[in-house]
Amino acid sequence: MDPGIDDALALYTALGRLPIAGLSAVAGNVEIEKTFVNARQLLRLAGRSDVPVWRGSAAPLHYPLHTAPHVHGASGLDGYQFPAPLDDAPTEPPWAAWARIWQEETTPVHLIATGPLTNIAKLLWCLDDAPSRLTGITVMGGAIHGGNVTPTAEFNFYADPEAADQVMGANVPVTMVGLDVTHKARLPWEDLPRFLDFAEPGRLLYAVLHWYGEHAERHPDGLAIHDAIAVAAYANPELFVWQELPLTVLQDAAWRGTVARLPESARRPRVKAAVDVDVPGVLNWLWGSLQAMAENSPAFRQS
Ligand code: BDR
Ligand code: CA
Repeated sequence: MDPGIDDALALYTALGRLPIAGLSAVAGNVEIEKTFVNARQLLRLAGRSDVPVWRGSAAPLHYPLHTAPHVHGASGLDGYQFPAPLDDAPTEPPWAAWARIWQEETTPVHLIATGPLTNIAKLLWCLDDAPSRLTGITVMGGAIHGGNVTPTAEFNFYADPEAADQVMGANVPVTMVGLDVTHKARLPWEDLPRFLDFAEPGRLLYAVLHWYGEHAERHPDGLAIHDAIAVAAYANPELFVWQELPLTVLQDAAWRGTVARLPESARRPRVKAAVDVDVPGVLNWLWGSLQAMAENSPAFRQS
C-alpha cells in the first residue's frame, strides 16, 4: 500500500475482518519515506503495532516516480496530525521478508495491492514457487473503461505500468478491482460523521476523508474509496459481477498505464476483472468491518 487516504480506510476495514501477515509500503501517492511512516502510524493508532511493516520500492521499475499530493496531500494523509512521531525502524525489503516467511511456514497467502505494483512484481521475480504459496493477488488498479490520471489510465497502473503488466500476466489468480467499480461504490457525503463513532482511528478517517472531499473528490454521489473497495471485493466476491479477460497494460507515453483487452485467443492468463458492484452491499460490509473492529479492539471504542 501507499497510504494514502483510501489506503487508510482499506487498512482499517481489513484489520476488522482478515488475519494480516504484514504490510509492505511502496512509493505511490507520496514518497516511500512517507508511505512507510504512514503505514506504521496507522497501525499504531489502531493498536496493531504487532503487524510488521516492510519498506518497499522507492520508485517504479522503469518510470520516474509519479505521486499524487493533490489527491492525498503532501503528507499522504493530509487533514490529520498523528499524535507523536515514530522512531526509525530498520526493515528488510518486503520481497525478501515474504520469501523468508514462506520458507518458514507454508500457510498460503493472498496479496491485496492498493498501490503501484512495484513490490509485487519484484516478489514474483524472487519466488519460483509463487503459484503454490499465493492463493492469488487482488489488485486495486486499472479500468476496463476510463481513467483518473489520463482519460484511459488509472493512477496505480499509470505510476508503474511495467509492474502492472507483469502482475496482469502472472501465473497466479489475479483479480482486478478497477475504476469500473470503484467509481460506482462511492461513500455518500452524509455518511462521513459516522466515522466519529470509532474513537481515534475514526477521527483520523473522518479528518482525511473530509480533506479529500474538500480538495480532490467533489463528485455529487460522494467519495471514491478505491482501495477499500478492493478489500471488500476480496472478502465478498459475491457482491461483484466478474469477467475473465486476457489483459495487458500499455507502456508507451500516450497510453501509459492503459489496460488493453487482448483477443480471446491470446496466450495470456485470464484476469478476473470486476465490472459491476452491489453498492449498498459493499457499503454495509465496510461499516460492519469498523463495527467488528470496535467490538474486538479498545482502540476503536469510544471511552
Ligand atoms: C488509486 O490511486 C491512489 O491515489 C489511491 O490510493 C488508489 O490506490 C486510485 O486510482
Ligand atoms: Ca492506494
